[in-house]
This record gives sequence, C-alpha cells and structure tokens, in this order.
Amino acid sequence: MTERVATISSNDNANSNSGAGDDSCCNNAMLEQFYLHGWAVLPAFLPNRLNQQLLDEVKNYATLTSAGIGRAHAYTVNHQIRRDKTQWFDGQSQAQQEYLQLMHKLQLQLNRQFFLGLFDFECHFARYQQDDFYQKHVDAFKGRSNRLLTTVSYLNDVNNGGELVLYNPDDSELCRIKPLAGSLVLFESERFAHEVLTVFDERYSIAGWFRHNNSNNGLIDPSR
Ligand code: OGA
Ligand code: MN
Repeated sequence: MTERVATISSNDNANSNSGAGDDSCCNNAMLEQFYLHGWAVLPAFLPNRLNQQLLDEVKNYATLTSAGIGRAHAYTVNHQIRRDKTQWFDGQSQAQQEYLQLMHKLQLQLNRQFFLGLFDFECHFARYQQDDFYQKHVDAFKGRSNRLLTTVSYLNDVNNGGELVLYNPDDSELCRIKPLAGSLVLFESERFAHEVLTVFDERYSIAGWFRHNNSNNGLIDPSR
C-alpha cells in the first residue's frame, strides 16, 4: 500500500482561491483529508502566475546555501543527511508577500475549522539538483519544538525521482508524493517521518512550518 496518495477530487479543487469565502484560500472540503489523516495533498493550490514568479525568483538566487540540521547552536551542515540548498524568506519581493498572505489565509482557515492554534509561519525556498536528497527525518521532535504543521509547495514538476515519502509510525511507507507544480503538501510535523528521494532533475519548493506560541520567560521561542 505504498502508492496511496491523498489527493482531493478536482471538483473540490476547482474552487481553490475562489468561492470558499473571501478570507479562505481553499475549499473547506480540501482540508477534511488533512483533518482525518493528519496529512493531505492539495493540487493546484498556488495560482499559476504566483507559482511562476516564485520559481523565477528562486532560480535567480545566487545566495542559496547548504541547508543545515538542528536549531540555533545545534545547527550543523551534514551532506550525508541532506543535500538541498535553501534560502529563508525575507518578505522583500511581491511574490513572497503574496505567498505569505496565502499561507496566512490557510492558517486562519485551519484555526477556524480545526481549532489548531497555529500562531505563526516560517518558510524557505529549497533547490535540489541532480543527486540531491534529504534522508528520513522528522521536522519536530516531540516536546522539543513548536512546529505543528509542515507545508511544502512544489514549484516545478519533477519527473525523475525527488518524491516525498511519508512514513507510518511503524516505519512502513505511507505514501509517495510526486512533486507537481502548484501543489501543496500538508502534514503534522511531529507525527510523520519523511524523506526526499534522490532527485535526477531540478526540484524547486518552498518548505514551511506553522508554529504554535511557545513562550519562554515571556520571550517567544526563536524559530531558528
Ligand atoms: C524539509 C522537507 C520535503 C519536500 O525541508 O524538511 O522534508 O518534499 N521537505 O521538499
Ligand atoms: Mn522535513
């Protein structure tokens, strides 16, 4: 049962970015899958124009850097574990602002529909080139992070390798998701170990995390 992919029917999706109320980013039905299983794929989440602008932007960066593992003082770069190059959003471009607005709408919708208490959002561009991968990992260790929900938006179709694999708690494979331009994957950060299989093409994405408000001595826990 490794090929099960939770996509939402195209009818549900036809209303994305419209018809679900002004402050909604997608049809409520699209999020049911997430509510039921803790993960979902939302095809055609990004409008084509925004997808293209974000793709143009990340392709033009000369400043993508080798991604690291861990937070703050525990941060290290380990090419055995991950080979992607990343750049955190700085909110400077129109395209980034539009993307952040879209994710904010998603945040409001998730909070309203499922009482999730998502508090803020951080994200980075990622580029995988030939032979790059990200080994099986979890984005949030239980009790140690305030990352609640992982989001990955794919900016191009990847036809050779580069699938996202989600794992069940018993380490069996839950699903394999092929990156398709404009689609968004959502999953509970603590619940699913996952990996990015070796890429034989270029693969561009935006990985993001909704967090809840962990404050420590009145200070908000730093994101990274
Ligand atoms: C990550 C990650 C998945 C993907 O950046 O932590 O797991 O499909 N990304 O890019
Ligand atoms: Mn991850």
